[in-house]
Amino acid sequence: MSSPNLYLIYISSLFFSFHLWVLKSQETPCNPNDLKALNGFSSCLEPNVLGWNNSNSVSDCCTWTGVTCNDSASRRVVALELGQKNLYGTICDSIVGLNQLRILNLSHNQLHGSLPTKLFRMEKLEILDVSDNRFVYRIPEELPLSSSIWYVNVSKNGLFGSIGENLCKNSSSSNIKVLDMSMNFFGEVQQGLSNCTSLQYLMINGNNFRSLPRGIFQMMQNLRVLHLQNNSFSGTLDHGIGHLLNLVELDISSNSFTGVFPDVFGSLGKLEKFTASSNNFNGALPTSMLNSPSITTLDLHNNSLNDPINLNCSAMTKLRSLHLGSNKLYGSILHNLSSCKSLNILNLGHNNLDGQIPESFKNLNALTVLSLSRTNLVNLSSTLKILQHFKNLTVLMLSENFQGEQIPDDAYFQFRSLKVLSIAYSELRGLMPPWLLGCNGLQFLDLSTNHLFGTIPLGFNKFKYLFYLDLSNNSFTGEIPKGLTQLQALIDIDISLLGTPLGFPLFSTGIDGATFCYNNIISFPPTLDLSYNMLSGTIWPSFGNLRRLHVLNLKENRLRGSIPESLSGMKNLETLDLSHNKLSGKIPESLVLLSFLSKFSVAYNELYGEIPMGGQFMTFPSSSFERNNGLCGGPYIPCSLQQAPVDESPSEAMTVFGPQFGFGVATGFVLTIIVCFMSGWILPRETTFKYRCFTSRSSHHD
Ligand SMILES: *[C@@H]1O[C@H](CO)[C@@H](O)[C@H](O)[C@H]1NC(C)=O
Ligand SMILES: *[C@@H]1O[C@H](CO)[C@@H](O)[C@H](O)[C@H]1NC(C)=O
Ligand SMILES: *[C@@H]1O[C@H](CO)[C@@H](O)[C@H](O)[C@H]1NC(C)=O
Ligand SMILES: *[C@@H]1O[C@H](CO)[C@@H](O)[C@H](O)[C@H]1NC(C)=O
Ligand SMILES: *[C@@H]1O[C@H](CO)[C@@H](O)[C@H](O)[C@H]1NC(C)=O
Ligand SMILES: *[C@@H]1O[C@H](CO)[C@@H](O)[C@H](O)[C@H]1NC(C)=O
Ligand SMILES: *[C@@H]1O[C@H](CO)[C@@H](O)[C@H](O)[C@H]1NC(C)=O
Ligand SMILES: *[C@@H]1O[C@H](CO)[C@@H](O)[C@H](O)[C@H]1NC(C)=O
Ligand SMILES: *[C@@H]1O[C@H](CO)[C@@H](O)[C@H](O)[C@H]1NC(C)=O
Ligand SMILES: *[C@@H]1O[C@H](CO)[C@@H](O)[C@H](O)[C@H]1NC(C)=O
Ligand SMILES: *[C@@H]1O[C@H](CO)[C@@H](O)[C@H](O)[C@H]1NC(C)=O
Ligand SMILES: *[C@@H]1O[C@H](CO)[C@@H](O)[C@H](O)[C@H]1NC(C)=O
Repeated sequence: MSSPNLYLIYISSLFFSFHLWVLKSQETPCNPNDLKALNGFSSCLEPNVLGWNNSNSVSDCCTWTGVTCNDSASRRVVALELGQKNLYGTICDSIVGLNQLRILNLSHNQLHGSLPTKLFRMEKLEILDVSDNRFVYRIPEELPLSSSIWYVNVSKNGLFGSIGENLCKNSSSSNIKVLDMSMNFFGEVQQGLSNCTSLQYLMINGNNFRSLPRGIFQMMQNLRVLHLQNNSFSGTLDHGIGHLLNLVELDISSNSFTGVFPDVFGSLGKLEKFTASSNNFNGALPTSMLNSPSITTLDLHNNSLNDPINLNCSAMTKLRSLHLGSNKLYGSILHNLSSCKSLNILNLGHNNLDGQIPESFKNLNALTVLSLSRTNLVNLSSTLKILQHFKNLTVLMLSENFQGEQIPDDAYFQFRSLKVLSIAYSELRGLMPPWLLGCNGLQFLDLSTNHLFGTIPLGFNKFKYLFYLDLSNNSFTGEIPKGLTQLQALIDIDISLLGTPLGFPLFSTGIDGATFCYNNIISFPPTLDLSYNMLSGTIWPSFGNLRRLHVLNLKENRLRGSIPESLSGMKNLETLDLSHNKLSGKIPESLVLLSFLSKFSVAYNELYGEIPMGGQFMTFPSSSFERNNGLCGGPYIPCSLQQAPVDESPSEAMTVFGPQFGFGVATGFVLTIIVCFMSGWILPRETTFKYRCFTSRSSHHD
C-alpha cells in the first residue's frame, strides 16, 4: 500500500474519533437493562451483522438499526424490527430482558435452534413475527400466550408438536387475533385451541395435521380467514364449520377429505372465497352452497364430483369465478350454467361433458377466461360461433377436443380481446384460418399437434404482443415467414408489463416430481416452436433480432443453408434446437456469445468443421452434435485426432459424436434456467399441456 492511502486512513480515523467524542458527550444512554438485553441478543448472532457495536453511539441503543424506543424520558425499547437482515444464529433468552417490548420482528432471516418459551409470555409483547427462519423445535404444550399478544407468525420454520392445548388457557384474557403457524411440521390440533375465541385469522396450512377435534369451531365466532389447506385431513368435512358465522375465506384444498359437503353454507352468510380443490369430494353439492348469495369464488377443481351441478345463479348473484376442472362432471352442466350471466372466469377443463356447447351458453357474455380443455366437446365451428358473443374473452383454452374436425375458416369470426388461445392436441385439419390474424392482441398461441397444412401465413408481424407461438407437430410447408422474425414482443417490448392473469392456477409436475403452480401468462418463457413440420428454405439471419426470445425450436423440418452468424443476437436464448434438418456449413463461432444457452442441438444435419470452444459450448453433451458430416473439436475430440479415420471411413465420421461419448456437463446453468427445466417446459409433450404451470418465468437477462 502506498503512503498517501495510509495518510488518508490516518486522517479519517482522527476525524472519526473526534466525531464519536462529540456524539458521546451529547448522548443519553438507553435504559441499561435494555442495553444489556440487546447485547445479549446480539452475542448469539453471527458477529457484527447488525453493526450495532460499530455504531457511533455504543451506549445509546435507541439509535441502533432496527431498534425503536418510545418518546418518554425513560427511553425504553418498544420495538425490535430486524426482518430480512441476513441474521444467522440463535435467539438467546436474554431477549426477554426487553420487558417493554411490543413488537418483535425477526422474519426472513436464517435463525435456528429453539424459540425461548418466555418469548410468548412477554408481558407487553403485541406482535411476534419470527416467520421464515430455520427454527426446528417442539413447541412445548404448556405454552400460554400473554394477554397482550394479538399477532403471532411462526410460519415457514421447522416447528413441530401439537398446537392449541394451553395457547389460550384463559379465554377471557386471551386477545390473539392472528395466528399463522403455516408451513411447519405440526401434527395435532388440540381442543384447547377453541378457547382462542378472539381469533380472526387462523393459518395452519402446510403442516401434518390429520384431524380436527370435534366441535373445535363452536366458540370461534370471530374467525374470518381459515386456512387448512395442504395437510392430511381426511374423512368428511365437519358440520361444525357452519358455526363460523363470520367466515370470509375458507381454504381446505390439498387434503384427503372425502364424501359430500355438509349443507351448512346457509349459515356462512359472509363467505366469499371457498377453495376445496384437490380432495376426494364426491356426490352432489349441497343446496346451500348452490344458492349462496355471498360466494364470489368457488374452487372445487380436482375432486371426484360427478353429479350434475345445478348452480342457481339467480341466487348466486356474486359468483364471478368458478373452477370445476378435473372432476367427473358430465352432461348438462353447460345448460345449467347458462343463467350465470355475471361469471368472469370459468374452468371446466378435464371433465366428461361430451357433446356440443348449447346455444344458451352465449348468455355468459361477461366471461374473460374460459377453459374447456379435454371435455370431449365436438363441433369447433359452432363453439367458436357461440364464443363470438364474449366480447371480453381474453383467455380461451380448448385443447384436446374436436378430434379430427376441420378448423373453421369463417372470415367474420372476431376475437378482439383474445390474448391467449390454445387449441392443441385436437388433430384439427385445414389451413391456418384467416380469422386468427384478426386477433391482434394475441400474446400466446398454441396450435400444436394438429394436422394443419399449407404455409404459415405472412403477416404474423401484426401480432405486436405475441411472445409464445407453438405450431409444432403439424404439416406446415413452405418457408418460415419472415414476419416471425419481426415480432415486437420478442424484440423490444417488455412483456412482463403485459401480464395476463390466467384466472385459475395451472399446475405442472416438474421432472423432479414437484408441483408448480402458475397464475399468469407471462410466466411462460418467450418461445417460437415450429418443430416437427415440413418447413423448407433457410433460417433467416433476422432471427438474430429476437433478443428477448428464450426458446427457438426448429427441429425436424427441411431447412437448408447455413446457420446464420447473427443468431448470436438472441442473447436471452436458453434453448436452441436445429436438429434433424439439412443445414450445412459450420457452426458459427459467434454462438459462444449466447451465455444463457443451456439446451442446444444441431444433431442430424450436414454440418462440418470445428465445434466452437468456450462459453456454454463446453457444457453440451456430444449428442448435441451427433450425425453430421464431420463436426469435430469442442470439448470432445481435437480435430487433429479425427482427421485420419474420416478419410478412411466416412460412415464412422458420421457417428464420431455418437452416444458412446455421451456425458452431460451441467455447469454454468443460471438459476432461471433450472426453474425453466423444473417448470415442465422441457417435459415430454404429453404432459406439458394438460397442466402447464409456471410461477416465475425466468426473468430477462438484459
Ligand atoms: C458489543 O459491545 C458490548 C460492550 O460494549 C459487549 O458486551 C458485547 O459483547 C459486544 N457485542 C458483540 C456482538 O460484539
Ligand atoms: C414509554 O414506555 C414506558 C414503559 O413502557 C411507558 O410507561 C410510557 O407510557 C411510554 N410512553 C409513551 C409515550 O409511549
Ligand atoms: C416484518 O418484517 C418484514 C420484512 O421487513 C415485513 O415484510 C413484515 O410485514 C413484518 N411483519 C409485521 C408483522 O409487520
Ligand atoms: C406470516 O409470514 C409469512 C412469511 O413471512 C407471510 O407470507 C404471511 O403473510 C404472514 N402471515 C400473516 C397472517 O401475516
Ligand atoms: C382470566 O382472565 C381474567 C381477565 O384477565 C381474570 O380476571 C381471571 O382471573 C383469569 N382467570 C384465570 C383462571 O386465570
Ligand atoms: C377454556 O377456558 C376456560 C376458562 O375460560 C377453561 O375453564 C377451560 O378449561 C378452557 N378449555 C380448554 C379446553 O382449555
Ligand atoms: C404443501 O406443503 C409442503 C410441506 O408440507 C410444501 O413443501 C409444499 O410446497 C406445499 N404445497 C403448496 C401448494 O402449498
Ligand atoms: C389432484 O388431487 C390429488 C389428490 O386428490 C393430488 O394427489 C394431485 O396432486 C392433484 N393434482 C393436481 C394437478 O393438483
Ligand atoms: C334459485 O334462487 C332464487 C332466488 O333466490 C329462488 O327464488 C329460487 O327458488 C331458487 N331455485 C331453486 C331451484 O332453488
Ligand atoms: C340443470 O339441469 C338439469 C338437467 O337438465 C335440470 O333438471 C335442472 O333444472 C337444471 N337446473 C338449472 C338451475 O337450470
Ligand atoms: C367488458 O369490459 C368492459 C370494460 O371493462 C365493461 O365495461 C363491459 O361491461 C364488459 N362487458 C361485459 C359483457 O361484461
Ligand atoms: C355444428 O353445430 C351447428 C349448429 O348447432 C350445426 O348446424 C351443425 O350441423 C353442427 N355440425 C356438426 C358436424 O355436427
